Amino acid sequence: MISVNPLRDTLSDTFGAEVVGLDLRRPMKAETVATLNQALLDNIILVIRGQDLTAREFRDGIANFGAPMMQHRAHFRLPECPEVSRIVNRENMRPAAMWHTDHTNHERPPKATVLYARKLPGAGGDTCFADMYEGLRYLSSEARDRIENMVTLNSMEPDSPSYSAADRARHSQGVRHPMVRTHPETGKQALYFHLTKALDIEGMENHAVRPFLDDLLDQAIRPENTLRHHWTLGDVVICDNRCAMHRADPDFDQAEERLLWRVILEGDKPV
Ligand SMILES: [Fe+2]
Repeated sequence: MISVNPLRDTLSDTFGAEVVGLDLRRPMKAETVATLNQALLDNIILVIRGQDLTAREFRDGIANFGAPMMQHRAHFRLPECPEVSRIVNRENMRPAAMWHTDHTNHERPPKATVLYARKLPGAGGDTCFADMYEGLRYLSSEARDRIENMVTLNSMEPDSPSYSAADRARHSQGVRHPMVRTHPETGKQALYFHLTKALDIEGMENHAVRPFLDDLLDQAIRPENTLRHHWTLGDVVICDNRCAMHRADPDFDQAEERLLWRVILEGDKPV
């Protein structure tokens, strides 16, 4: 018997839920799958603690939420299960410290990102999440009007050494996405962009793009619509990318290894 309980670690937490009583290694009944998928829509972030999974068990358990999709850093895929990728502060990969939603350089970015804690530093290295339904609401009316029909052009960051030439050739084509996105299942609108992959905005001088996006984030990110996940080994966290941004807090000793396994799930073309 599973239960879905609101995550309220701090008074400012207003979204997110913990799923209790779930073992991702076990087959799930259709009604459990339906309950969990509805819980993700309702809560944006789901936390499932205490999981002890091989890479295949992780992939197969998460496949109850959608079809796993291949990730673009080929070097970091696990050989025994290539839909699972490593997120690690090693091998030229840096913590993704800026607010973003994953893989926006794809025509159909993933509907959800799922992270599984495998190795953790002694302190720090939290992942922060922000509710972008609320983020959109927090914008000034001028900003809201301005972005109504705005389109970002998304490519791989030119200065990130963790992407290979082959990754770039395949996935860095200036993919267009609306900055205000309608969630395909809830019908609600959310602010949608990746701070470092939105290298251009249609109709805007290139030099103005980053300051403009920074200003939007200043307005959209508040304590009331963010939550901070303090990782424990075995935690699995699922994030609905269509209405949330996330970032890794790089405030940990980089001599220590922080390793998360990641699965992303196929999504729709944003509209
Ligand atoms: Fe990410």
